[in-house]
Amino acid sequence: MKSFYIKNYGCQMNVSDSEIITSILLKKGFFLSKNIENAKIILLNSCSIREKSELKLKNQIEKIKYLKKNNGSLIGLIGCFSKNFKELLLNEKKIDFFINPDSYKEIESKIYNSNNTVKNFRKKETYEDVIPYKQQKKITTFLSITRGCNNMCTFCIVPFTRGREISNNPFLIAEECERLQDLGYKEITLLGQNVDSYFWKKNNNLSFNFANLLELIAEKIPYVRIRFTTSNPHDMSEEVLKTIYKYNNICKHIHLPVQSGSNKILKLMNRKYSREDYFFLIKKIKKFIPNCSISHDIMTGFCNEKENDHLDTIDLMNKIKYNYGYMFSYSPRPGTYAYKNLVDNVPKNVKKKRLQEIINLQNKHSLYRMNEFLEKTQEVLIEGTSKKNYNYWYGKNSQNIVVIFPKEKNSKIGDIKLVNIKKFTSHTLIGELIK
Ligand code: 5AD
Ligand code: SF4
Repeated sequence: MKSFYIKNYGCQMNVSDSEIITSILLKKGFFLSKNIENAKIILLNSCSIREKSELKLKNQIEKIKYLKKNNGSLIGLIGCFSKNFKELLLNEKKIDFFINPDSYKEIESKIYNSNNTVKNFRKKETYEDVIPYKQQKKITTFLSITRGCNNMCTFCIVPFTRGREISNNPFLIAEECERLQDLGYKEITLLGQNVDSYFWKKNNNLSFNFANLLELIAEKIPYVRIRFTTSNPHDMSEEVLKTIYKYNNICKHIHLPVQSGSNKILKLMNRKYSREDYFFLIKKIKKFIPNCSISHDIMTGFCNEKENDHLDTIDLMNKIKYNYGYMFSYSPRPGTYAYKNLVDNVPKNVKKKRLQEIINLQNKHSLYRMNEFLEKTQEVLIEGTSKKNYNYWYGKNSQNIVVIFPKEKNSKIGDIKLVNIKKFTSHTLIGELIK
């Protein structure tokens, strides 16, 4: 009765949370099943940040419902979901229980308590005392440094599901980084909804902002690569940029969601910066870290987005020419400000058309940026064998761009190798090892 299986659908934060949940359950005497069919408890870790992710989850629940019937397995839901969605699934008996991101420590009682009621976010639970359990031995890993978000972007469900932002103790974070280094990890991605607003204070003489934290970690694990995500343009400081430049082991890549290029839309989204502020920040990034790659999230079809707002986004993309990005069309999320107070008035076909336009444009820009790496030598951390060609290694350069290159006898997973770039596609650099 105590075997569990855990499946991730959501973001990197969900992956990190699954490691915490697994650790908590193992400590309580449960055991991890590698096979969903053998598990008595099936945990699905997902989110309803966009409508699409909800639909994907619903499909998955349909696919595995036979396990409930045949094996008597319990299905539990973990992650960022609106109250309505959880209530619906529970009432329809599609799931047996759910666990909010603030109550993983109560997971055992949730599993056995059939009277699961849906409550809103209640308290600030931290998991600083839980050592995340790593299921797969990999070379790269994630570590949460903050939980929650204080930003209240009007479209976003996260502040309602993960609550207010709290920052973990920097010394415990640094200790965990050292432990991960000792376990053989070569790259750690620090996670937070908004890493740049990281702030921890013990007293008037001892406080840490994000730049201080980066510095502490960079010095503690000088041979491990450090990445971080996500940065909110509103909070990214010059001090952080200088720190990224100063340390070779801090990767030269910033994921900087802009969401829209239109000031009117940014205001409606409550993003707290203008397109001019954003351009200024990009300029600063390029000044302090000339070889920094920049990626984005952009959302099309937000409430009241007119063709000229969309053209502003296109214009912003053309001016910046991002290395890559993630693009979505807006879907109203119950409980958010936009859901309650704004009208989702951009027709579906217009959203689709605008989304396709920005995807096509990004592909063009990705190629343009890839070309900049041609004939240049890159430091590549080997993560594994290329999926498409067994004779090639797969890895990433500091700028978080995938690089593949032919395997040589004296190279192995975890090595950082110098690779000269010979060709590229819009997503992959293809190179040769430098002897
Ligand atoms: N609809 C569509 N996309 C959304 N995102 C967040 N909320 C929504 C929503 N309601 C996107 C944003 C964010 C990314 C993680 O997901 O672009 O940066
Ligand atoms: Fe959501 Fe905005 Fe917070 Fe990101 S910064 S998690 S988009 S509220």
